[in-house]
Amino acid sequence: MYALLIIISILQSTYQSDVDLSDVKIWGPGLEPQNLVLPARYFFLQTNLSKLNDNISFKVNGLSLDKKRPCRVWSNILNRKDGSYIMRYKLYDSCSYMEINVKYKDIHLAKSPYIIDNIVHPEQCICPKWNVNEWLDNMKCAKLPKQISRDLSQFKTIDFDKLRKKIIDKYNKPQSISLCHYVIFENKVYRTCYGKYVGFKMFMDNILLSMTRKLFLPNMEFFVNLGDWPLVNDISEKYPIMSWCGSTDSFDIIMPTYDITESTLENMGRVMLDMLSVQGNNDRSWDEKEPVAFWRGRDSNAARLKLIEIAKDNPDMFNASLTNFFFYRDQEAKYGPKSEHISFYKFFDYKYQVSIDGTVAAYRFPYLLAGGSLVLKQKSKYYEHFYNDLKPNVHYIPVEKDLSDLLDKLKWAMQNDEEARIIANNARHYSNENLLPKDIYCYHAHLFNEYSKLLVSSVNIIEGMDIVEQPPEAQVCQCGTNTLHKDEL
Ligand SMILES: *[C@@H]1O[C@H](CO)[C@@H](O)[C@H](O)[C@H]1NC(C)=O
Ligand SMILES: *[C@@H]1O[C@H](CO)[C@@H](O)[C@H](O)[C@H]1NC(C)=O
Ligand SMILES: *[C@@H]1O[C@H](CO)[C@@H](O)[C@H](O)[C@H]1NC(C)=O
Repeated sequence: MYALLIIISILQSTYQSDVDLSDVKIWGPGLEPQNLVLPARYFFLQTNLSKLNDNISFKVNGLSLDKKRPCRVWSNILNRKDGSYIMRYKLYDSCSYMEINVKYKDIHLAKSPYIIDNIVHPEQCICPKWNVNEWLDNMKCAKLPKQISRDLSQFKTIDFDKLRKKIIDKYNKPQSISLCHYVIFENKVYRTCYGKYVGFKMFMDNILLSMTRKLFLPNMEFFVNLGDWPLVNDISEKYPIMSWCGSTDSFDIIMPTYDITESTLENMGRVMLDMLSVQGNNDRSWDEKEPVAFWRGRDSNAARLKLIEIAKDNPDMFNASLTNFFFYRDQEAKYGPKSEHISFYKFFDYKYQVSIDGTVAAYRFPYLLAGGSLVLKQKSKYYEHFYNDLKPNVHYIPVEKDLSDLLDKLKWAMQNDEEARIIANNARHYSNENLLPKDIYCYHAHLFNEYSKLLVSSVNIIEGMDIVEQPPEAQVCQCGTNTLHKDEL
């Protein structure tokens, strides 16, 4: 059956093209689906020909494990309107054979068709295949992120026989703190949570379960703070606690936020906005964007009210409004009216985006960086896992915490359009190198790997912990022959 598919492909590629396609480049993790399991696989196409625009097609064909029917795949193209595209696809069952076709009209581009004569599994299969070092190599993850070295360098070793009780005693404050205690043992996830509001544990559970479906995590024990604010601010008791948001006056070990992690796990799933979709759902090139600074958000920070004030005084430079009054309900008359909900993709109709803290770092920042506009970011003590990597005036324009220089910075951008465009491009480029789904998995894998090396106490399931089960749709698939390095662990 697939011999036939190949012959058809070869016949098709003999058509002559009306344009020179020799510069078309195609690359990315989605071309190796047999090795790189992601919730949605993706790869890139780059060309200098804008002509390809509407004539480019992308289709994944495959066969089910019994080779009797097609396997189920959903694919889509995200056009970045600059001659580059993201192709992504999601598998709903396992394929025994796959063919990825990328064409201009009827002509295959680059090395298309990409033939995968191998078993390819969807995200939900429980097929761990590598230990963490092998997996990092295999995924071609970038080297250890500096933030991880920095966070972990605070600890020579971690001995939970000494720390466990102290941490629980100190942070078991159900009204104000939400903390989960996890153990990974033989690649199974166990936990106990402390606190009144622990719903966000599902985000941590989800990434751990997804990782244990792909690789063998080292045995380890750790604590995760589910709250907004970092927890560890006492220098005399620097406890190893993982958090989603860091600050310059605390010592927590930072993980990618639950927001970007969930959008990684739910890519082409339950989540609309993710680091890929945000790049392909706005039609305006840089020159077509309104030269105005755009902002929408809640009233979760006084600086956001300040922004509204500045915007009201300069209506030709800003389109900013609050979407909800909660913290400053009594000031709606002054800072309102609140505006209708607008799709995040529409933000990028505008050339300039303002990023202002909410309760902590604004977790939309990565999406703003990827969206193609210029980001003016308020300085802040709060950061996500990647902020320390970014360079001001290279990836974004920094603005004082009290927004006192916002107008000047915006005027500069308006008068220096080429520089502004380059910074916006740098931001998108950075996002594509560091913040895509693969990178979010890599960060977690690096973090758990390095962290586990510091543990000196032995790891055991602790009495009273719940086992965190794989979701019902996770099946034990036919994991193939070259699996299970488990014995080596
Ligand atoms: C596009 O790429 C081709 C092949 O690399 C090159 O010959 C051509 O000059 C490029 N065109 C433009 C407009 O950059
Ligand atoms: C190719 O795309 C252009 C617009 O970008 C369109 O005018 C033309 O009809 C398309 N050709 C085909 C064969 O689809
Ligand atoms: C502000 O932006 C919204 C959403 O794009 C738009 O509907 C509205 O007309 C804009 N306001 C002004 C004054 O341009």
